[in-house]
Amino acid sequence: MKTYKIACIPGDGIGKEVVPAGQEVLQALAVASSRFTFDFESFGWGGDWYRAHGEMMPKNGLDALRNKDAILFGSAGDPDIPDHITLWGLRLKICQGFDQYANVRPTRILPGIESPLKRCTRDDLNWVIVRENSEGEYSGVGGRAHQGHPIEVATDVCMMTRVGVERIMRFAFRLAQSRPRKLLTVVTKSNAQRHAMVMWDEIALQISKEFPDVTWDKILVDACTDRMVNRPASLDTLVATNLHADVLSDLAAALAGSLGIAPTGNIDPERRYPSMFEPIHGSAFDIMGKGLANPIGTFWSCVMLLEHVGETEAAQTLMAAIERVTANPALHTGDLGGRATTVQVTQAVCAAVSR
Ligand code: IPM
Ligand code: MG
Repeated sequence: MKTYKIACIPGDGIGKEVVPAGQEVLQALAVASSRFTFDFESFGWGGDWYRAHGEMMPKNGLDALRNKDAILFGSAGDPDIPDHITLWGLRLKICQGFDQYANVRPTRILPGIESPLKRCTRDDLNWVIVRENSEGEYSGVGGRAHQGHPIEVATDVCMMTRVGVERIMRFAFRLAQSRPRKLLTVVTKSNAQRHAMVMWDEIALQISKEFPDVTWDKILVDACTDRMVNRPASLDTLVATNLHADVLSDLAAALAGSLGIAPTGNIDPERRYPSMFEPIHGSAFDIMGKGLANPIGTFWSCVMLLEHVGETEAAQTLMAAIERVTANPALHTGDLGGRATTVQVTQAVCAAVSR
């Protein structure tokens, strides 16, 4: 029997509620399949760890994760700690430390869930956003000088490398090729950003030659928001820079009904390091500790985790269970206009995978 070693990092806020829920569902799947098991190890890193130790995770924390098959992450963010510290001290430290350069964000309108778009059917919106996850606007290159003086300066350099752009383009073309429509949209801003984004466009054209069966087009990021709202069916797979995709993926999640549902995988496609799966919703302090968080984003992230480790059948079972549960409005949490609790949704999905 195969055992998967999974690191669980609930982090902050509702991460502490949805990650244990994800573990429960994975456990239920393992029991139902009787072909594999999970060996979970939880790490209490995040805001509380910072208060106790002055850092979001231990200096050698990556070593504890290195030999895992995957990481299940909740969220990082604390009302009392600046956001750039919580982000760079934990989530980005893992993403960059393990060179998880492809961030994959599928979006669909699940059964029972309504899109705020009047004319959009479930068939119209079926996207995967590929987010460059290692450089660009999040490269961390920059600095501040003369703080507090009128001549104070601050820079955040959007750094793009040929290697970085080639590998994310290749990943995106390959993913588009694996989907039925074989359609890729390259998001850019090369009208305004005349160096890095021009190279981005050139490399897109270059890599496209390796994938003659993929139809692709290019769109400016601002125009892309309009296209997502007004012509959703014209899109399938999208590739965008770190910041552009960050913004577009929240729009995508909202158009599909709720941020509470959207999953993501921070992937090292070369599998040198473990990949990390997480809901995209963040720590949501306003509802934390109340049992109201929507665990569906975490469960869908668990589907991606299962696909990544090669348990395709279990991934399909879990996705079908999720869709059975979302189809029932009595099992919708507050973000979907319902009154169900995290526990109720979790129990329903566990029951559905055990059937
Ligand atoms: C996301 C999030 C993060 C990001 C935040 C929490 C820093 O919004 O995963 O999309 O911007 O990368
Ligand atoms: Mg975001």
